[in-house]
Amino acid sequence: MSEIRILPDYNQITPLELETIFSPIKQEIRALEKWLRKWSDHSLPVIKIMSKKVMASPGKLIRPGLLLLVAKHLGYEAEDKIKLAATVEVIHTASLIHDDIIDNSTIRRGRKTAVLNFGPDFSLLLGDYLFIRSIGKSLSLSNKNLTLILTRVAEEMVEGEIEELSQSFNFDLTENQYYQIINKKTAGLFRATAELACYLARAKEKDKKSLISYGRYLGQTFQITDDLLDLIGNSTSTGKNKFSDLKEGRVTLPLILALKNLTPEEKKFWRSQLEKFKSEPAEVSPSAILSLMEKTGSLEQTFKKAEEKAKQAKKAAGQLADTIYRRSLLELVDFVLYRNK
Ligand code: IPE
Ligand code: IPE
Ligand code: MG
Ligand code: MG
Repeated sequence: MSEIRILPDYNQITPLELETIFSPIKQEIRALEKWLRKWSDHSLPVIKIMSKKVMASPGKLIRPGLLLLVAKHLGYEAEDKIKLAATVEVIHTASLIHDDIIDNSTIRRGRKTAVLNFGPDFSLLLGDYLFIRSIGKSLSLSNKNLTLILTRVAEEMVEGEIEELSQSFNFDLTENQYYQIINKKTAGLFRATAELACYLARAKEKDKKSLISYGRYLGQTFQITDDLLDLIGNSTSTGKNKFSDLKEGRVTLPLILALKNLTPEEKKFWRSQLEKFKSEPAEVSPSAILSLMEKTGSLEQTFKKAEEKAKQAKKAAGQLADTIYRRSLLELVDFVLYRNK
């Protein structure tokens, strides 16, 4: 089954590739990649080996790309933006290492996860190490408020992950609770990334407001599409395990919307099916749940919600002066909305 048939208009829209969107910050991205490679340096061989392995498969670099686009849009040229962008990416990477332990994931960025390579003990500690080292390093930057923003967002992300985990297999989770969780675990870092760039570049209050709002809506769009990709994406493109959310009992928007309009009897039946992912996983197939989502139209409804968030992100970016960087920020919204990876 292809993702294209489920979502109308998906086929007609070809978002630009990230490489094109990031072309105005090409040099900065190169410098960033160099910085990230430096992260593998360590006198303790075991740390060096693990960091090297993790850093050897970089992600899409959306968050540091966002920071650099915003900084450039605001006319900020100094070098420390690269260091700050690298910090944000390492925090993100650390959160993924932890997330893969929690989610029992075996594939990340198209390769074996850290937890599969090094086991849960070492990857837990590697995640801790990367989290604290990245935030600690930010103290060498000009402004201590940057470290404060990073500390707060790291706390928020962990809070979001704990909240999500505690709501696993709670099929009464509401849409509002879902948004609370994704705001913390994902959108917070997008928002904070925009805020960091604003701080660095001493943005005017009005621009800061628009950019923070843009970051938050972009982050929400990002997590909603991520939750769709878990169900209708292709593992080769996403580089992640498919149906992980269903198997782990994560109650995401497509599921909430699918369960919403069922009769009490239907609800009872589907809840018992979903419960089986915990008790008798061999007895239940994700495709049955996917059929329910297709039948109830919850996949399209979820995509519409992502579209609404994307529209808000564009509206916020629309308040900014017209620069090549703003154009990239607008294109980034469509990339995130229509992405397959
Ligand atoms: C994945 O983020 C984690 C979520 C917030 C859903 P990305 O898809 O940006 O991960 P990488 O860095 O590109 O691998
Ligand atoms: C976790 O969300 C996002 C984090 C902040 C770590 P997901 O669990 O949906 O992320 P993926 O799908 O594993 O990338
Ligand atoms: Mg996960
Ligand atoms: Mg996911």
